[in-house]
Amino acid sequence: MQRILAAAAVVLAVTLSAAPAQAQDARQLVKLPPMMQHHMLGNMRDHLLALGDVLALLGQGKVDEAGHLAEHRIGMSSLEGHGAEQMAPFMPEEMRTIGTGLHEAASRFAIAAQNAEVEHTYESQRKVFAALAEITDSCNACHTRFRIR
Ligand code: HEC
Repeated sequence: MQRILAAAAVVLAVTLSAAPAQAQDARQLVKLPPMMQHHMLGNMRDHLLALGDVLALLGQGKVDEAGHLAEHRIGMSSLEGHGAEQMAPFMPEEMRTIGTGLHEAASRFAIAAQNAEVEHTYESQRKVFAALAEITDSCNACHTRFRIR
């Protein structure tokens, strides 16, 4: 009986130590004024919509259009529309760096898309998807590290 109890205790200890990460939220809280919080979350929802549109266009074989859309909604050309300059001072340096990395990744995706439109090869298509993964890597890098509420 004692052995069974001891075994049960070990199982319980192992289960608890493997509890999901959200049990203790390790993300850093970045405090933004309420207006900026709303603005940022609005930008975020638009990023996800844009990604969905990009995937849909890729599925239709409209690679060049997918590139243009990514450039204008997420890439370097989107910064003004997102009010990036006003928000940057409120963010820790690392968050800003990841944010800039996202916009650069989207612009690189646009270039990969342009190339694929011209080259029409399997290799150039593969690069389009690799560039797309760099975009989502940036989303994940920031979401893993920071929260604003
Ligand atoms: C520089 C940091 C950063 C980057 C890059 C980033 N996000 Fe976010 N995102 C956040 C933060 C911070 C939140 C709020 C999380 C919280 O406080 O719960 C958020 C929230 C969101 C939300 C929830 C919005 C809501 O209304 O609740 C969505 C959707 C989202 N992000 C999508 C994306 C997508 C898609 C990308 C990449 C294309 C992306 N984000 C890139 C920081 C970032």
